[in-house]
Amino acid sequence: MTPAQKTQTARLFAALEYGERLAHDCARRQASLLDDRRAQRFLQTQARQESAHALLFRGAADWLAPKQWFTTPPALRDFGNSLQRALSRNDLTESLVASQIVLEGLGEQILTRLNHGMDNHGIGFSRQRKLLLRQEQGHYAFGLRTLEQRLQTEYTRIEHVHELADGYIRLIQRISAEMADVFAALDENAADYTDGLIAGLPAWLDPSRRTALSANSDSV
Ligand SMILES: [Fe+2]
Ligand SMILES: [Fe+2]
Repeated sequence: MTPAQKTQTARLFAALEYGERLAHDCARRQASLLDDRRAQRFLQTQARQESAHALLFRGAADWLAPKQWFTTPPALRDFGNSLQRALSRNDLTESLVASQIVLEGLGEQILTRLNHGMDNHGIGFSRQRKLLLRQEQGHYAFGLRTLEQRLQTEYTRIEHVHELADGYIRLIQRISAEMADVFAALDENAADYTDGLIAGLPAWLDPSRRTALSANSDSV
Protein backbone atom coordinates (compact mmCIF):
# COMPACT_ATOMS: atom_id res chain seq x y z
CA MET A 1 0.00 0.00 0.00
CA THR A 2 1.20 3.51 -0.80
CA PRO A 3 1.21 6.11 2.00
CA ALA A 4 -1.73 7.87 0.27
CA GLN A 5 -3.72 4.62 0.19
CA LYS A 6 -3.01 4.07 3.88
CA THR A 7 -4.23 7.55 4.76
CA GLN A 8 -7.37 7.24 2.63
CA THR A 9 -8.18 3.78 4.03
CA ALA A 10 -7.76 5.16 7.55
CA ARG A 11 -10.18 7.95 6.58
CA LEU A 12 -12.68 5.33 5.44
CA PHE A 13 -12.26 3.41 8.71
CA ALA A 14 -12.80 6.62 10.70
CA ALA A 15 -16.08 7.17 8.79
CA LEU A 16 -17.07 3.55 9.41
CA GLU A 17 -16.34 4.03 13.11
CA TYR A 18 -18.74 7.00 13.12
CA GLY A 19 -21.40 4.82 11.41
CA GLU A 20 -20.89 2.03 13.95
CA ARG A 21 -21.32 4.41 16.89
CA LEU A 22 -24.49 5.69 15.28
CA ALA A 23 -25.80 2.13 14.77
CA HIS A 24 -24.95 1.38 18.42
CA ASP A 25 -26.87 4.40 19.78
CA CYS A 26 -29.75 3.59 17.45
CA ALA A 27 -30.03 -0.11 18.45
CA ARG A 28 -29.97 0.77 22.16
CA ARG A 29 -32.73 3.31 21.70
CA GLN A 30 -34.78 0.97 19.46
CA ALA A 31 -34.66 -1.73 22.18
CA SER A 32 -36.53 0.67 24.46
CA LEU A 33 -39.14 1.44 21.77
CA LEU A 34 -40.20 -2.17 21.09
CA ASP A 35 -42.16 -4.28 23.57
CA ASP A 36 -41.31 -7.65 21.99
CA ARG A 37 -38.79 -9.41 24.27
CA ARG A 38 -37.01 -11.29 21.48
CA ALA A 39 -36.61 -8.10 19.44
CA GLN A 40 -35.31 -6.28 22.51
CA ARG A 41 -32.71 -9.00 23.10
CA PHE A 42 -31.66 -8.91 19.44
CA LEU A 43 -31.23 -5.12 19.57
CA GLN A 44 -29.26 -5.27 22.83
CA THR A 45 -26.93 -7.81 21.22
CA GLN A 46 -26.73 -5.64 18.10
CA ALA A 47 -25.75 -2.63 20.24
CA ARG A 48 -22.91 -4.63 21.83
CA GLN A 49 -21.72 -5.81 18.40
CA GLU A 50 -21.79 -2.26 16.98
CA SER A 51 -19.64 -1.10 19.91
CA ALA A 52 -17.10 -3.83 19.15
CA HIS A 53 -17.18 -2.88 15.44
CA ALA A 54 -16.51 0.77 16.30
CA LEU A 55 -13.46 -0.27 18.37
CA LEU A 56 -12.21 -2.49 15.56
CA PHE A 57 -12.39 0.36 13.01
CA ARG A 58 -10.84 2.81 15.50
CA GLY A 59 -7.96 0.36 16.00
CA ALA A 60 -7.57 -0.21 12.26
CA ALA A 61 -7.53 3.56 11.54
CA ASP A 62 -4.92 4.14 14.28
CA TRP A 63 -2.82 1.29 12.95
CA LEU A 64 -2.82 2.64 9.39
CA ALA A 65 -2.46 6.33 10.23
CA PRO A 66 -1.25 6.77 13.83
CA LYS A 67 -2.24 10.01 15.57
CA GLN A 68 -4.19 11.32 12.59
CA TRP A 69 -7.58 12.89 13.09
CA PHE A 70 -10.16 12.78 10.29
CA THR A 71 -13.18 15.02 10.25
CA THR A 72 -16.51 13.28 9.63
CA PRO A 73 -17.83 14.03 6.11
CA PRO A 74 -20.62 16.67 6.47
CA ALA A 75 -23.22 14.46 4.71
CA LEU A 76 -22.46 11.61 7.14
CA ARG A 77 -22.95 14.02 10.02
CA ASP A 78 -26.26 15.13 8.45
CA PHE A 79 -27.26 11.45 8.20
CA GLY A 80 -26.44 10.99 11.89
CA ASN A 81 -28.33 14.13 12.94
CA SER A 82 -31.37 13.09 10.94
CA LEU A 83 -31.37 9.62 12.53
CA GLN A 84 -30.90 11.10 16.02
CA ARG A 85 -33.88 13.41 15.43
CA ALA A 86 -36.01 10.40 14.39
CA LEU A 87 -34.98 8.57 17.58
CA SER A 88 -35.80 11.56 19.76
CA ARG A 89 -39.31 11.51 18.20
CA ASN A 90 -39.52 7.74 19.00
CA ASP A 91 -39.89 7.14 15.25
CA LEU A 92 -39.02 3.44 15.06
CA THR A 93 -39.95 3.12 11.37
CA GLU A 94 -37.62 5.92 10.28
CA SER A 95 -34.82 4.60 12.50
CA LEU A 96 -35.12 1.11 10.93
CA VAL A 97 -34.99 2.55 7.40
CA ALA A 98 -32.02 4.80 8.22
CA SER A 99 -29.91 2.47 10.36
CA GLN A 100 -30.64 -1.20 9.64
CA ILE A 101 -31.59 -0.81 5.98
CA VAL A 102 -29.66 2.09 4.43
CA LEU A 103 -26.64 2.48 6.72
CA GLU A 104 -26.13 -1.26 7.24
CA GLY A 105 -26.84 -1.90 3.56
CA LEU A 106 -24.03 0.49 2.63
CA GLY A 107 -21.75 -0.97 5.30
CA GLU A 108 -22.33 -4.43 3.86
CA GLN A 109 -21.40 -3.18 0.39
CA ILE A 110 -18.22 -1.55 1.67
CA LEU A 111 -17.15 -4.61 3.67
CA THR A 112 -17.95 -7.08 0.90
CA ARG A 113 -16.21 -5.10 -1.84
CA LEU A 114 -13.25 -3.98 0.25
CA ASN A 115 -12.63 -7.36 1.89
CA HIS A 116 -11.24 -8.67 -1.35
CA GLY A 117 -9.11 -5.58 -2.04
CA MET A 118 -7.88 -5.45 1.55
CA ASP A 119 -6.80 -9.09 1.42
CA ASN A 120 -4.86 -8.30 -1.75
CA HIS A 121 -3.18 -5.32 -0.08
CA GLY A 122 -2.18 -7.45 2.90
CA ILE A 123 -4.33 -5.46 5.34
CA GLY A 124 -5.01 -7.60 8.41
CA PHE A 125 -8.15 -8.14 10.47
CA SER A 126 -9.41 -10.70 7.93
CA ARG A 127 -11.17 -12.95 10.48
CA GLN A 128 -12.73 -9.98 12.27
CA ARG A 129 -13.87 -8.44 8.97
CA LYS A 130 -15.71 -11.65 8.00
CA LEU A 131 -17.36 -11.98 11.42
CA LEU A 132 -18.36 -8.33 11.27
CA LEU A 133 -19.92 -8.79 7.82
CA ARG A 134 -22.01 -11.74 9.05
CA GLN A 135 -23.24 -9.71 12.01
CA GLU A 136 -24.17 -6.73 9.79
CA GLN A 137 -26.11 -9.05 7.48
CA GLY A 138 -28.04 -10.27 10.53
CA HIS A 139 -28.86 -6.68 11.56
CA TYR A 140 -30.03 -5.84 8.03
CA ALA A 141 -32.27 -8.94 7.89
CA PHE A 142 -33.76 -8.11 11.32
CA GLY A 143 -34.44 -4.52 10.24
CA LEU A 144 -36.13 -5.60 7.04
CA ARG A 145 -38.29 -8.18 8.82
CA THR A 146 -39.35 -5.71 11.51
CA LEU A 147 -40.13 -3.05 8.91
CA GLU A 148 -42.24 -5.49 6.88
CA GLN A 149 -44.14 -6.51 10.02
CA ARG A 150 -44.84 -2.87 10.80
CA LEU A 151 -46.18 -2.32 7.30
CA GLN A 152 -48.62 -5.17 7.84
CA THR A 153 -49.73 -4.46 11.38
CA GLU A 154 -49.07 -0.82 12.23
CA TYR A 155 -50.26 2.44 10.82
CA THR A 156 -47.22 2.70 8.56
CA ARG A 157 -47.85 3.57 4.91
CA ILE A 158 -45.58 2.10 2.27
CA GLU A 159 -45.39 5.49 0.50
CA HIS A 160 -43.99 6.99 3.69
CA VAL A 161 -41.32 4.27 3.90
CA HIS A 162 -40.44 4.95 0.24
CA GLU A 163 -39.99 8.67 0.97
CA LEU A 164 -37.79 7.89 3.96
CA ALA A 165 -35.64 5.44 1.98
CA ASP A 166 -35.24 7.95 -0.87
CA GLY A 167 -34.14 10.69 1.53
CA TYR A 168 -31.54 8.53 3.25
CA ILE A 169 -30.28 7.10 -0.05
CA ARG A 170 -29.77 10.70 -1.28
CA LEU A 171 -27.68 11.34 1.83
CA ILE A 172 -25.63 8.21 1.07
CA GLN A 173 -25.03 9.53 -2.46
CA ARG A 174 -23.74 12.80 -0.93
CA ILE A 175 -21.52 10.85 1.47
CA SER A 176 -20.07 8.84 -1.46
CA ALA A 177 -19.36 12.08 -3.37
CA GLU A 178 -17.64 13.62 -0.34
CA MET A 179 -15.50 10.49 0.04
CA ALA A 180 -14.68 10.15 -3.66
CA ASP A 181 -10.92 10.61 -2.97
CA VAL A 182 -10.98 7.58 -0.67
CA PHE A 183 -12.50 5.32 -3.32
CA ALA A 184 -10.24 6.72 -6.07
CA ALA A 185 -7.12 6.00 -3.96
CA LEU A 186 -8.30 2.39 -3.59
CA ASP A 187 -9.11 2.07 -7.33
CA GLU A 188 -12.80 1.78 -6.48
CA ASN A 189 -15.78 3.61 -7.93
CA ALA A 190 -17.90 5.25 -5.22
CA ALA A 191 -21.10 4.97 -7.32
CA ASP A 192 -20.77 1.16 -7.33
CA TYR A 193 -21.41 1.12 -3.59
CA THR A 194 -24.65 3.08 -3.77
CA ASP A 195 -25.75 1.05 -6.81
CA GLY A 196 -25.00 -2.15 -4.87
CA LEU A 197 -26.93 -0.88 -1.85
CA ILE A 198 -29.99 -0.12 -4.03
CA ALA A 199 -29.74 -3.41 -5.95
CA GLY A 200 -29.67 -5.28 -2.63
CA LEU A 201 -32.97 -3.76 -1.49
CA PRO A 202 -36.13 -5.86 -1.75
CA ALA A 203 -38.18 -5.04 -4.86
CA TRP A 204 -40.87 -3.20 -2.86
CA LEU A 205 -38.23 -0.76 -1.58
CA ASP A 206 -35.96 -0.40 -4.61
CA PRO A 207 -36.75 2.95 -6.33
CA SER A 208 -36.38 1.47 -9.82
CA ARG A 209 -38.60 -1.60 -9.23
CA ARG A 210 -41.21 -0.44 -6.75
CA THR A 211 -43.40 1.43 -9.29
CA ALA A 212 -44.14 -1.76 -11.17
CA LEU A 213 -45.14 -3.44 -7.91
CA SER A 214 -47.19 -0.62 -6.40
CA ALA A 215 -50.31 -1.63 -8.36
CA ASN A 216 -50.11 -5.05 -6.76
CA SER A 217 -51.48 -4.96 -3.22
CA ASP A 218 -49.83 -8.31 -2.41
CA SER A 219 -46.36 -6.88 -3.01
CA VAL A 220 -45.61 -6.22 0.69
FE1 LIG B 1 -21.66 -2.68 12.77
FE1 LIG C 1 -24.84 -3.47 12.23
